[in-house]
This record gives sequence, structure tokens and C-alpha cells, in this order.
Amino acid sequence: MTSSQSGQLHNTEIGKLKSYLINVVTREMEASPVPVEQRRQALTKQLQQAYQSTRLQLPTVLREQIFRDVLDELLGYGPIQTLLDDPEITEVMVNGAHNVYIERKGKLERTSVQFEDDTQVLRVIDRIVTPLGRRVDADTPTVDARLPDGSRVNAVIPPVAIDGPTITIRKFTKGRLKIEQLIDLGSITRNMADFVRACVVSRLNIVISGGTGSGKTTLLNVLSEYIPNDERIVTIEDAAELQLQQDHVVRMETKPPNSEGRNAVTIRDLVRNSLRMRPDRIVVGEVRGGEALDMLQAMNTGHDGSLTTIHANSPRDSISRMETLCLMAGMDLPVRVIREQIASAVDLVVQQSRLRDGSRKVTSITEVAGMEGDTVVMTDIFRFEQTGVSSDNKVLGELKPTGIRPLFYPRLEISGFKLGPEVFGANLSEILGSRRR
Ligand SMILES: Nc1ncnc2c1ncn2[C@@H]1O[C@H](COP(=O)(O)OP(=O)(O)O)[C@@H](O)[C@H]1O
Ligand SMILES: [Mg+2]
Repeated sequence: MTSSQSGQLHNTEIGKLKSYLINVVTREMEASPVPVEQRRQALTKQLQQAYQSTRLQLPTVLREQIFRDVLDELLGYGPIQTLLDDPEITEVMVNGAHNVYIERKGKLERTSVQFEDDTQVLRVIDRIVTPLGRRVDADTPTVDARLPDGSRVNAVIPPVAIDGPTITIRKFTKGRLKIEQLIDLGSITRNMADFVRACVVSRLNIVISGGTGSGKTTLLNVLSEYIPNDERIVTIEDAAELQLQQDHVVRMETKPPNSEGRNAVTIRDLVRNSLRMRPDRIVVGEVRGGEALDMLQAMNTGHDGSLTTIHANSPRDSISRMETLCLMAGMDLPVRVIREQIASAVDLVVQQSRLRDGSRKVTSITEVAGMEGDTVVMTDIFRFEQTGVSSDNKVLGELKPTGIRPLFYPRLEISGFKLGPEVFGANLSEILGSRRR
């Protein structure tokens, strides 16, 4: 490094210096591991020592830049790395350099974690998106990405994000929640689980409805696992989150537009394409646009047993939301026709909710029974009945069958399921012995 005395370094030399520093420091770190909180300080000290031993005299600005890059390199995603490492934390939200929030056990908390400045936040965003061949800049200020461990990331930078660059990370839960855990958590009862399993195996079309973060994808994953292993499953998602264990799964993911804003591949494109892939089942991560209409048509034309989620706050709300989404398909169909399609395609709506205390529950399982005049007939088969709130603000209540057996029950029987009054709750006629079949 002959040119170094004058403070002039070529890029390749800077690169060499960085790897030299990283090597020295890593060796020392491995020799004497330091607790995560102290790592940054310890590293900085070791870096300074390693740098001094090179006898280089670089301009302060350049030296500091190199130190920062090396530290970021060594410390993963900078200040939020420790949050990402903590298995109790399910989400990490950066609102500009000085406001970092997390979700732990369903509750939002502000942390004391801070970035040095917005530039450092931008660097972390770059580190996340660059390996994926994506970029963020003033022209494309929003980006979706995934960490190598599968966590989902969204980043928004100025000018769109007014108070500084924003990162939202939905952490990949190693081994998503399984049905047994959902039962243990009180999110669903065993009887409800048995019932929905029968519905999935019997090829009912099921829509999981719920708000953001209510647990829709988690439940979709659980329900999809009930699909028998000999069926060909096509999954369609914005960012692959489902983890199906079956042998015969074809996974597809949307693609954002290129830098000229072209060649995007949307959920709708993929739904249409999937029909030509000879699927036994189509599982769509979430319908949020015109694909709702294609999905209904698929459900109505032999691709029964399809599963999807939708953003809505009640089963009835999910029907009107679906109407709105179908109108977005731009086919100029009268609402009445769309509604009829929905009523005949969708068999069951499973409503997932995040309650005020942060707990998540299946708050209703509702049959879509058809049309009566202009109205879609919906019948709750199970329902959460809240009884109150405990002294420590936990929502109290019970998940109960309503005593009504769905009209599609014979379809479950044909598939070999016998679910008695212990599942649906006894109603009067059953007590009197005249069973409704
Ligand atoms: N029944 C549940 N009980 C507790 N936590 C849950 C439950 N279902 C999901 N979660 C957690 O809630 C977060 C959001 O779940 P997700 O299924 O991704 O929601 P959505 O798809 O509705 O946005 C995840 O961290 C997930 O592990
Ligand atoms: Mg989701």
C-alpha cells in the first residue's frame, strides 16, 4: 500500500484493508467471546488496535467509514441484530433512526435501541436488499424483501417516509405454530380443529378472514397441512411464507416490476396460470385485488378445496370485501352476479382475530349457506363468546359450538367423517332424538 502515506487509497486497497481488519478482529473474537451487548464496544477497540498495527494514516472521514462498514459487516444488521436474534421477539419495527419498536408476546414495546443516524438505517436496508438484486432509492422508495432466514422485510425511505427510513420485519418463526400449539394457546378448540380438518379433507372452499397480524397466514399453513399427501398443491404468495410438508407442492411467488416499472408478475397472473398446471388444490396467500374473481371462478369450476385469506374484520365483512375485490377485476359484472358467485363458491369463512390483550383466536367459523333474496346467508357453527375482562386485562370468554350443524355436513360424511353433538353441541332436536341429517 504505497499510496497510503498520502491518504489516497484505491478501492481494491480499501477492500483489502477491510478484509484484513475483519480477519484479525474475528480471530480475536473467537478466542475470547464477548456478550452480545458489549460486542460493539469490544470490536471497536480491537479494530483500532488492528488498524494502528498497519501504520496507515488515513483521513479521519475515510477511516471512520471503513470502521463503520467493518462493524456493520461483523454485526449483521447493525443495532437491530440483537432483536433479530431474540426468539421471543416476533416483529421489529424501525421508524427512523431513533424509534425502534418490537412485538413480544403479541404486545408492542418501544426499545432503547437506536441507530446512529438515518444513514445507518439506510445501510442496513441496503444490506438486506442488495443480495436479492433489489434496490431502494428516491425513485423506488419502497421495497419488499426477505432475510436469509425467511423473515419478511418491508422498507420505506424518504421522500415517501417522512420521518426517516422505516423498516418492518416480520420474523420467520422457526417452525410455525402447529395445531397442537394453537389448541394449547386457546386459539381454537380441539373440536373446532377436528371440524376444519374434516372440511379441508372434504374439499370445501375456505376463506380465512382477519386483520393484519391476526394470524391468518399461520392458520392457512395449519389448514393446508390437512390436505392429503396424494394431492397436487399449487401455492401462490406475495412472499413465500407457507411451509407445506406434502410431497407434491409447487410454490410460486409474485415478482415486482423491473427498474422500468415493467414485467411485474401479480397474484392474479399466477392464479390464472395455476389453472393450467393441473392443480388439485390452489392455496393463495392472500387475495387483495382482482384475483378474487379468478379465484371464485376456479372454486366454482372444479378446483374445489381451495384455500385463501382475506383482510376483513368479520365473516360478513369478508363477503363485502370480496365483492369489492371482484369489482377490481374490471369485468363489469353486476354486484348481484358477483355475490351469487361468492355464495356458491365459498363454503366456509374462518374468522381469525387479534383481541385487545394481544391474544389471537379463531373467533368464528361460519358457513356460507347460499342466497336469500339479495343477502348471502351466513350461519355461525362456532363462535367466541366474551364474558369479560380479567383484572390483568386478559380477555375472558369461551369458544363454543352454536348447536347448528352446517348444511354441507353430508359432504363431510361422504368423505368418511362422523362428527356428533360432542362437536357441534347438542341442540334440542338432537336431545329429543330426531337427528337433523
Ligand atoms: N393463534 C396465535 N397465537 C399467538 N400468536 C399467533 C397466533 N397466530 C399467529 N400468531 C403470531 O402472530 C404473528 C402474525 O401472524 P400471521 O399469521 O403472519 O398474521 P397475518 O397473516 O394475519 O398477518 C406471527 O408472529 C405469528 O407467529
Ligand atoms: Mg399474512
